[in-house]
Order: sequence, then C-alpha cells, then structure tokens
Amino acid sequence: MKGIILAGGSGTRLYPITEGISKQLMPIYDKPMIFYPLTTLMLAGIRDILVITTETDQPGFKKLLGDGSKFGVNLEYIIQPSPDGLAQAFILGEDFIGDEACAMVLGDNIFYGNGLTKLLVSARENAEAGFATNFGFRVHDPERFGIMELDSENNIVSVEEKPAQPKSDFAVTGLYFYPAGVAEKAKQVRPSDRGELEITSLNDIYLQEGKLKGELLGSGFSWFDTGTFDSEMDAAVMIRAIETNQSRVVACPEQIAFERGWISCEQLAERAELLKKNSYGAFLKKTLEAAK
Ligand code: DAU
Repeated sequence: MKGIILAGGSGTRLYPITEGISKQLMPIYDKPMIFYPLTTLMLAGIRDILVITTETDQPGFKKLLGDGSKFGVNLEYIIQPSPDGLAQAFILGEDFIGDEACAMVLGDNIFYGNGLTKLLVSARENAEAGFATNFGFRVHDPERFGIMELDSENNIVSVEEKPAQPKSDFAVTGLYFYPAGVAEKAKQVRPSDRGELEITSLNDIYLQEGKLKGELLGSGFSWFDTGTFDSEMDAAVMIRAIETNQSRVVACPEQIAFERGWISCEQLAERAELLKKNSYGAFLKKTLEAAK
C-alpha cells in the first residue's frame, strides 16, 4: 500500500503567514503541521509515501523530512506545478503508485481520537480488497466542504463538493483510501466549474460503481482542516491540552516508528539527543528508556 501527502496549494488564505513559507511547514503547537498527516499514514502501516508540494516549497520539506529514514519510512517527492485539484495527485503520482492501493491525506488535515488506528487499518484492508473509503465528520458549516449523504445504515448515497444546499452535516475529510487503479480513475475526472480536478468527482466514480465505503468519525474524534487562523489556533490548543494532560507527544513519527520496529534504539537516541532542549526530546528519551 502506498501513501500520498498532498502539501501544495497557494496558501493565500493564510497570507501574510504563508507569503514566505509553506503552510504545512508551519507549527501546530510543538511540531510542523505535516507531522500530523505523516503519522496518520504511518498509523495505517504505510511506509512508502510521496510528498507532493509546490516547486518553491520542496527544498523546505526535504530539509525537514529527508528521505524519511529517521522516521522509518521511505519518502519520495514530486512537484505539483499548479494547484489544479486534489485528484491530480494520483495522475502526478501514477509511477509511484504502480499497481498498488493508495491512500492520500491532505497536508493540512489533523486527525485525533481513540480507535483511529483500527479505522485506518480497516480502510487499508478494504482498499486492498477493492473498495475506496471516505471518512465523514460532522461540521457546523457544511457548505465549506465535500459532503456525504448517508442512508439509514450509514452507507454513502451521494457526495457533493461545497453544495449550496448540503444534504447532510457530514464533511468528507481530507483522508482517502483507494484500491489499485486510482490513477486511471483520476484521469476520467473532468475539471469542475472552478477549473479543478475535484476529489469529490473521483469519489463519485467509486460511488457509482458501488465501491465507496463511508466511515464516520464520531464524537470521540477530533478533525481539523487547518486552513484558517482560527482552526490552526484551535488545533494547537487542543494538541497542547492533550499532551500536557497525558504527558506525551501526539503525532510523533519517531515514537510510532520505534514502537513498530521501523527504527532502532540508536536512531531514536540520536533524535532524542538532537531535540533534547525541549519537551518533544524529553518524550523521545522517555520512550527510549521505557523500552530498556
Ligand atoms: O479538508 C477537507 C476538504 O478538502 C474536503 O471536504 C473537500 O471535499 C476537498 O475539496 C478539500 O476542500 P478544501 O476547500 O479544503 O480544498 P483546498 O483547495 O483548500 O485544498 C486542500 C489542501 O490541499 C490545501 O492545503 C492546499 C492543497 N492543495 C489544493 C489543491 C486544489 C494542493 O496541494 N493542490 C491542489 O491542487
């Protein structure tokens, strides 16, 4: 199974912050935003990951994440020349995906909640068995998102991009699992009225074929699309509260990699030493000592 982090886009909604730096490199409390979607893919057991960025921002991502070995994953990078839509990621990533199933997470989406790993693993298994999965989350402003309409058994009956009259309050979050062949399907998507290859159009293709599953993230979950000043701040405040209460670091790629045996004690120790001046580094040290 392959994974894509889509971290391009013009970022104009967060100007002046993002005039000089990519949004996904900005912090959400104690770590760069991209650590959250990266760890979401890692929790699904995905280790081959393509990072799609703008040309200008690619060096920053490479400096931060490198080839992924410090996190026990294999990272590749490609450029999206212009923000022509989320579904374009699969066309750009066709060679990388090959004949495997593929998940995609948006670089500005944060998922947190008890049981997330189980949901991710089940979506992965479904993708490997030929089914796509969308994750729904109840929102108060459904006209801002892709929206899924559900029947009484929570099956998806329609998906619409930013509808003026939403048929439900369930946003389609920025995490998608697809079976093998997604690049071919993405090529069938025609540009929308706003000129983008919409992910919702791709999801609709799977829906029409009876191959789209919906998974609702209930009240035990938090989801943030950190595309505004307020949502960035809300996410940071929540992460700080969780980390302070539970004295741990959430969305910590080193810890996830270490627990899965993807990095060695020596690699973790090296990271703990590099980050020793703060609570993130202290958490890495604690994780290492607990394993001894
Ligand atoms: O966050 C979930 C929502 O994401 C879904 O509910 C919508 O169905 C989906 O279309 C998308 O809506 P947004 O309005 O949030 O999309 P936006 O254009 O803001 O792009 C989302 C992120 O992806 C953003 O960080 C920029 C990046 N991006 C966007 C486009 C269009 C790219 O990297 N490349 C692109 O071509």
